[in-house]
Amino acid sequence: MDSRRRLVGSSTKMYLTTNEVAAWVMRLRQLLEPVTGVEVFVLPPFVSLPKTAELLRGTRIAFGAQNMHWADRGPHTGEVSPLMLAELGATFVELGHAERRRDQAESDESVNLKVLASLRHGLRPIVCVGEDSVSSTPDDLLRRQVATALAGVQKSELEHVVIAYEPVWAIGQAAAAPASYVFERHRAIRRLLIDRFGAEAGNRCTIIYGGSVMPRNAGSLLKDNDVQGLFVGRSALDPESFAQIVAAARPPEPGSEEGATL
Ligand code: PGA
Repeated sequence: MDSRRRLVGSSTKMYLTTNEVAAWVMRLRQLLEPVTGVEVFVLPPFVSLPKTAELLRGTRIAFGAQNMHWADRGPHTGEVSPLMLAELGATFVELGHAERRRDQAESDESVNLKVLASLRHGLRPIVCVGEDSVSSTPDDLLRRQVATALAGVQKSELEHVVIAYEPVWAIGQAAAAPASYVFERHRAIRRLLIDRFGAEAGNRCTIIYGGSVMPRNAGSLLKDNDVQGLFVGRSALDPESFAQIVAAARPPEPGSEEGATL
């Protein structure tokens, strides 16, 4: 990804019904229309994807799903396949979010099957990793999570992969993880990608931060170049607040120090 271009997205988790998603998307279309230099994606629930696809056609806002199965089709009751998502025009799929690891016993191994399937279908996987609690060795766990989730991924595919670093202890809280802590983890993830895939491919993977991102902390979390974007939950449910976070991610105007505001 172009190092100046940032990626900012939101999963509405299970907060909004389809009618509510539609109103949210319509407002985002208005608010984000003039914004350039930031790639934006939204991840509503499966049932809201057709409506979302219809409303976002012809705009620069991308959409995707919060999960998927790894098989194209078959006896998997209640599941949705990459084939089905690709048919709708989805470009992203979130995999291994902490809430799915907790509630659906999602493992690094199942995330890996899904990562490989998403890439086969031209979907960009957003691979969620992060430690459960503030531990003294978070990078060992991150190394294991990333190595397992990306097993079998080709160097040439790495530019399509997004790693969302989301420390579990910072999700759903009043404040994000401290910015300096986030910068260290992002650098550690970058190093392990380079160790595994080499500098060229390792530098192409996009690493974004998630966990209690809000308009008031977005700017400071983006102060390090290794934080290439933000992944937003609750705060994005208010379109104005999401638009402010997107604005904070705009590259600085030539000659100015800070990103612009809307
Ligand atoms: P939050 O969710 O912004 O509500 O903390 C973030 C996430 O789970 O990605």
